[in-house]
Amino acid sequence: MEIDTGLVEVLQHARHVAVLTGAGVSAESGIPTFRDAQTGMWARFSPEDLASPEAFRRNPQLVWEWYAWRRELVAHAVPNPGHLALAELERHVPRITLITQNVDGLHQRAGSSAPIELHGNIGRVTCSVEGTVVDRWAASADDLPPRCPRCGAYLRPDVVWFGELLPAAALAAAWEAAQSCDLFLSVGTSGLVEPAASLPRLALQAGATVAVINLDVTTAARPPLYTINAPSGVLLPALLRAAWPG
Ligand code: OAD
Repeated sequence: MEIDTGLVEVLQHARHVAVLTGAGVSAESGIPTFRDAQTGMWARFSPEDLASPEAFRRNPQLVWEWYAWRRELVAHAVPNPGHLALAELERHVPRITLITQNVDGLHQRAGSSAPIELHGNIGRVTCSVEGTVVDRWAASADDLPPRCPRCGAYLRPDVVWFGELLPAAALAAAWEAAQSCDLFLSVGTSGLVEPAASLPRLALQAGATVAVINLDVTTAARPPLYTINAPSGVLLPALLRAAWPG
């Protein structure tokens, strides 16, 4: 795969690379994205019905079961070459900040050391009232969602829902990385959900080179902005090999 030599050179010399990932990075692991027309999850389900505090109040069982289904999907998925390339990048660049909107934990399973999870992690469960992480609870098929063993409130997935605030420390770290990196890669995200969507622009304003990689980039671009229409599982390994052959 042909990759712009200007971008390859920036990567080779970068001291700090920030990467923002979205659902597209996990698409090649078989996890549906949110907005892709045929396969996206929001084509079949509506966010208002499933991923909001109101939805959980209205129908906690439906929301719990939808996340249980997604947790199952994720448990059977494996990291793809895109996840693996991002983990490998840590061996080549002095500082990598990996920021993800994904809740699937596949970056960690691929070997990335400390991804910043802006939208939480589907593998964790919290008490919907106390907000504390809960590791064990009594399972009952008749009473879903399960209850917090301490206070009896419903348990919920530890993810950020529409209308909820992002974890402040994660957001601050992402902001700092966007403003201090030499190269910012936006990979597999439609850039429609704030505040993550602002990060590439912030990086560009702060003087970084920015590459947007997904399957629907339409904007014409010139350095320091690059736009690449390619699957991340192909593009990211090719970018690494171009920068560090052999
Ligand atoms: P989207 O579903 O909005 O966008 C997926 C992006 O990935 C699109 O730009 C696709 O072109 C691209 N894409 C698909 N397959 C790809 C591949 N193999 N390689 C590279 N790119 C590919 O997903 P996100 O941008 O992650 O939030 O969505 C952001 C947030 O909206 C999610 O975190 C979630 C959702 O609602 C919450 O649930 C709070």
